[in-house]
Amino acid sequence: MASLTVRQLDEHIKKRLRLRAARNGRSVEDEVRTILRAAGEEAGPEALEQFTPTGKQPERRDATASEANHVLLIIGGGIAAYKSLDLIRRLKERGLSVRCILTKAAEHFVTPLSAGAIVGRRVFTDLFDPTGEFDVGHIRLARETDLILVAPATADLMAKIAGGHADDLATTVLLATTAKILLAPAMNPGMWSNKATQRNLAQLIADGVAVIGPNEGEMAESGERGTGRMAEPLEIVAAVDVLLRTRAPGVLRGRRVLVTSGPTHEPIDPVRYIANRSSGKQGHAIAAAAARAGADVVLVSGPVNLPDPPGVTVVKVETARAMLQAVEHTLPVDIGIFAAAVADWRVAHAGEQKIKKKAGKMPELLLVENPDILSTIAHRESRRPKLVIGFAAETENVTGNAKQKLIMKGCDWILANDVSPQTGIMGGDRNTIQLVTATGIERWPPQSKDDVAAMLIARIAAELDGNKA
Ligand SMILES: Cc1cc2nc3c(=O)[nH]c(=O)nc-3n(C[C@H](O)[C@H](O)[C@H](O)COP(=O)(O)O)c2cc1C
Repeated sequence: MASLTVRQLDEHIKKRLRLRAARNGRSVEDEVRTILRAAGEEAGPEALEQFTPTGKQPERRDATASEANHVLLIIGGGIAAYKSLDLIRRLKERGLSVRCILTKAAEHFVTPLSAGAIVGRRVFTDLFDPTGEFDVGHIRLARETDLILVAPATADLMAKIAGGHADDLATTVLLATTAKILLAPAMNPGMWSNKATQRNLAQLIADGVAVIGPNEGEMAESGERGTGRMAEPLEIVAAVDVLLRTRAPGVLRGRRVLVTSGPTHEPIDPVRYIANRSSGKQGHAIAAAAARAGADVVLVSGPVNLPDPPGVTVVKVETARAMLQAVEHTLPVDIGIFAAAVADWRVAHAGEQKIKKKAGKMPELLLVENPDILSTIAHRESRRPKLVIGFAAETENVTGNAKQKLIMKGCDWILANDVSPQTGIMGGDRNTIQLVTATGIERWPPQSKDDVAAMLIARIAAELDGNKA
């Protein structure tokens, strides 16, 4: 990369720079960095991508989590705050740029000096600190970040964020930001299971906030056990990585992705059919997320009441057999994601005319098995997608059934979810996924179907990179 030193600049420019830096309370070098950053932002990302000192077009590279991503870590006032010092180190090891805010309560557990020494820059503590406001300011802290991580997220901080409070620097920045927020809650098991905390958690998830942990285990208070331990720093860093990847554009550029979605309708006669309660929301969200990630996406959809996702080729079908035909026709693809709730059975002899109601005489419907689309594609010898991903909608023994399905269907991953009526997942906007692979199970937090889709795309991108997130 070309380098430039302030010494090489003309005297009158240096003088103006010194004046500007002094006015803003920055070093001359920091002032230059600020000006360059602002110039880059004004010109837009395309301009920066196309610029090279030689005028040559640079090689196109996909963004990864470690490329100039800015993480703002907010440390709350919990006993787990000491772990956040290690967390800073781990985030920096990933090449992330870290800024840090300590709440007033956090300062009882770790000092701005120790956090600042590890971050390698000043730590922010006070909303009304004139130096802090002139230096960066709470709005810039909120804006100049790709992700805000709150660790430990205390019960009090969770309540404040859920309620939209803004009475200190941390909560004001959290309210002002448009960046993704990730919470790593840590508290006594009683505080965690309290209805108020669970209510706040549900609200935060509904607002699109991501959550990692808390884990079960020994608490800092002697003799206490339960759910409330902050997730380990490495687990948190992995979650940060996945969330940043979901925001990195183009992670699936050049890949061809097939997604199936919705239910199938199996006709009984021209006016009646067998169906299920699938809304297609999850499959459509995945197709949209894959298209946003730069993939060439074909969505084979059963009958749904949803708009077509932008930038996606949509093939509309009714029955399982038509869906299989459309899927086969779409091959080859790099990734096949089978989210449709395909009817297991169809009526052997659907009536060509409407079956007439005859008093006291019930029609007998003989059912026959439909083709198993996931298994058919996963077992193909030619043109099998590199990654075949199925869904397991279960109402009992979710993990056990999903593991069995992974083996029986011959697919690479299963996204298992509990669709019992009380979960509200069928037709609802949220989902709680367990990702089952040959090597283990990942339990994802409850989140919106859009967030599940983004997380899946990030996970796929990491897998294809050979770099498991
Ligand atoms: C020794 C001690 C440990 C604490 N640990 C926790 C904790 O782990 N989690 C939590 O939610 N609150 C904990 N608290 C209570 C919080 O410090 C308190 O609710 C505080 O107002 C939270 O401030 P914050 O919103 O800046 O995080 C603890 C308090 C003390 C005195």
